[in-house]
Amino acid sequence: MNVQTRRALPQGPILGIETSCDETAAAILGADGSVLANVVASQHAVHERFGGVVPELASRAHIEMIERVVLAAVGEGHVAWDSLVGIAVTQGPGLAGALIVGLNYAKSLAYMLGLPLVGVSHLEAHIASAWLEDPKFPPSCIVLVVSGGHTHLYRRDAEGISHLLGCTRDDAAGEAFDKGAQMLGLGFPGGPALDRLAQTGDPSAISFPRSSLQKSSLEFSFSGLKTALLYKLQAMGKMEGVRRRADLAAGYQEAIVRVLIDKALRAVQQTGIRSLAVVGGVSANSRLRALLHESAQASQIRLSIPPLRFCTDNAAMVAAAGRQALAAGHRMAFDAEPLTTLEPALAP
Ligand code: KG4
Ligand code: ZN
Repeated sequence: MNVQTRRALPQGPILGIETSCDETAAAILGADGSVLANVVASQHAVHERFGGVVPELASRAHIEMIERVVLAAVGEGHVAWDSLVGIAVTQGPGLAGALIVGLNYAKSLAYMLGLPLVGVSHLEAHIASAWLEDPKFPPSCIVLVVSGGHTHLYRRDAEGISHLLGCTRDDAAGEAFDKGAQMLGLGFPGGPALDRLAQTGDPSAISFPRSSLQKSSLEFSFSGLKTALLYKLQAMGKMEGVRRRADLAAGYQEAIVRVLIDKALRAVQQTGIRSLAVVGGVSANSRLRALLHESAQASQIRLSIPPLRFCTDNAAMVAAAGRQALAAGHRMAFDAEPLTTLEPALAP
């Protein structure tokens, strides 16, 4: 469990560690909040032939990579070990075995170096990524977290507390991308592949259902979309399905992206908060980014979307969330365990 202390945090760099899923990552955040190093070792090659992340293989790959990744971050950041003022590690949600690797490594390092340690929520870390390159982005905002496991809309208050406005009732947006990509024979990870293919297709050639649930609802549902793709592929037959793959990808992507934007803008309208952050792996999607920029400009909404390297899993965002938690006095006890359901509002 995390505990609170009154000890102030000295000024200096922070080490962040992330191992919640299939990326082993370490980063150094400078005292001024700038990212001095951001090292990510992806396990995509390990999981590719299985078409998805295999938890046991993920844990093993984290064990193999963690030391190298942390040393690379410290080297790249040109920081001396004794200049670090704290360590932040993802405590959850994520794969339990994968999280344990990062937690145990961070605990050992913190013990050895006598540094304060804090566990952060992976969602809170994604949210913190909105300020990494845009430090002046208002603290009070609407946040849409879109990743492989989450599609969550939050109202974030000036104190940095996230209040849930709505989330998905079934698949997460990233999951919808990955499953759609799999049906189209695009392999793993599916989101980036579908994004690339969709760029060569016509988003209006084949229409897909855009589930909005009730008009005022801020909840999402993507499972019907997946079924619609399956039926279209069955009706087309193999040859036509392959021939029209780009249009299918573009139409399918359009349905996800339009619903995400629609709900995010609805949250802005309902709350009157005109700052919107969109974070998480799916925020790397080129169509989502382009349409969000257009909509934000048209509606005069202050928008923050992290650069691509901070959209998908990374440890710079963990260090950023960790810095705030450490400064607020939170510390992780050495008997702390991974938390597989850690909501930002409850963290750390
Ligand atoms: O945040 P993230 O790296 O890991 C989780 O916390 O889940 O998000 C991974 C998800 C995957 O579902 C992946 O397919 C999706 O983000 N993703 C994308 C793109 N890049 C990553 N989805 C659509 N378009 C992309 N360019
Ligand atoms: Zn993530």
